[in-house]
Amino acid sequence: MDKSWIRSTCRDLELYYNPKVGDKLRMDTSTNALGANPAGSRALAESASLNLGQYPSTYGDNLREELAKLYGLRKDNFVVGNGSDEALDIIIKTFLEPGETVITAHPAYVLHSFFVKINGGRTVTVDLDDDFQLDVERINSTPGKVVLICTPNNPTSNTFRLDDVKALIEGSDRPVVVDEAYGEYAGRSFLPLVERYDNLIVTRTFSKAYGLAGMRIGYLAAGEEMAEAMQKVKIPYSLNLIGERVAVAALRDREFLERSVKVVQEERPFLEQGLRDLGFQVYPSEANYILFRSTTPSEVLAKGLSDKGVLIRDFGKVRRLENCLRTTIGTREMNTFLLDRMKEVLRECL
Ligand SMILES: Cc1ncc(COP(=O)(O)O)c(C=O)c1O
Repeated sequence: MDKSWIRSTCRDLELYYNPKVGDKLRMDTSTNALGANPAGSRALAESASLNLGQYPSTYGDNLREELAKLYGLRKDNFVVGNGSDEALDIIIKTFLEPGETVITAHPAYVLHSFFVKINGGRTVTVDLDDDFQLDVERINSTPGKVVLICTPNNPTSNTFRLDDVKALIEGSDRPVVVDEAYGEYAGRSFLPLVERYDNLIVTRTFSKAYGLAGMRIGYLAAGEEMAEAMQKVKIPYSLNLIGERVAVAALRDREFLERSVKVVQEERPFLEQGLRDLGFQVYPSEANYILFRSTTPSEVLAKGLSDKGVLIRDFGKVRRLENCLRTTIGTREMNTFLLDRMKEVLRECL
C-alpha cells in the first residue's frame, strides 16, 4: 500500500495497548474490582426480548433523562455515547480546526493526545510539578484552542487542587475539558458547575465505578448550547439499544456504586503498604489505582507478573515515569495475589 494514501496525521500511529489476556488477572485497566454491575447484568439478561431490528434512540434520551435527574441538570446538558473515549473524540472534533492546538498535562491519559492527533490537531503538553499538580500559570499563558485535563489524573492517581482547576476554567476564554473517568472515587466533581461556566465540559464513564467497561458507555456534560453543538457532531446511535438500558439500570443502583467506592477506600492502605514493604516508592492515590516506582526495571516486573498470571501496566517508558507501574486496587484476594506474585518476581530478579 502507498503510505501517502493515508492522511498525514494518521501515518505514524501505533496500535493501542492490546495485551494477551487469556485467563490472567487483570489489574492493568483500572476497572471495577467487584466485577460487573449486578443491576446492569440483570438489565442485560432482560434485554433478550428487545427488538434488535430497530435502531436505538438517536441520542440516548432515556439515559440523558436519568443523568439529568441524578445531577439536577437538564437532559440537554448531556451527550451520551460509546465510552467517555467517544465523548473526548466528539469534543476535539467539535472545537478543533486542523492544525490547532490542545493543551494537556504531562503525564496524563495517553489517549488525550491520540484524539487530538487523529483529528488533525497538535498537542502541547505542560508538565505537572513534582507533586503531579497543575502548573496553572503556564497552562493559562499557553496559546491553544482547548485545555484538556483529567482528575483524578491517570496514571499518576492523584487529584488536582480544586482551586487550580477553577483557575483554569476562570482564567481561560476557551473550552476547558475535565475528564472525570475516576471522579466517583474522589467524591468531588465539576459536573454540577457546567451551567455556571459556559466554557466547562466534564466527561464521565460507566467503565470504572459502575462496573460496565465491557458495555462501552460514557457521557459528557456541558452548558446546553455547547452540548447541542457536540450532539450534532456525535455519530447518531453510537450508544446501542442494550447499552442504554444497562446504563439506566446501573445508574439507579446506588448500592453497588457505593460498595465499589468503599472497597477501594478500604483496600488502598493495604495495597500501598504491601507495595512499600516490597521497596517501591508509592504515589498518593485518590483513584482506584496506584502508581509506584521500582528500582528493578519496570518491564522486567510487568513481564514477570504477566508470566505468573497477573497483568499490571508498565509506564516505565514515559518521560518522568521511568520505572513506574500502575496497578488497579483490587479486592483483598486480588491484592494479596498480586503482592505474592510480585514477591516471587523480585526474588527471581536477585
Ligand atoms: C482518564 C481516562 N479517561 C477516559 C477513559 C476512557 O474510558 P471509557 O472510554 O471506557 O469510558 C479512561 C480509561 O481508562 C481514562 O483512564
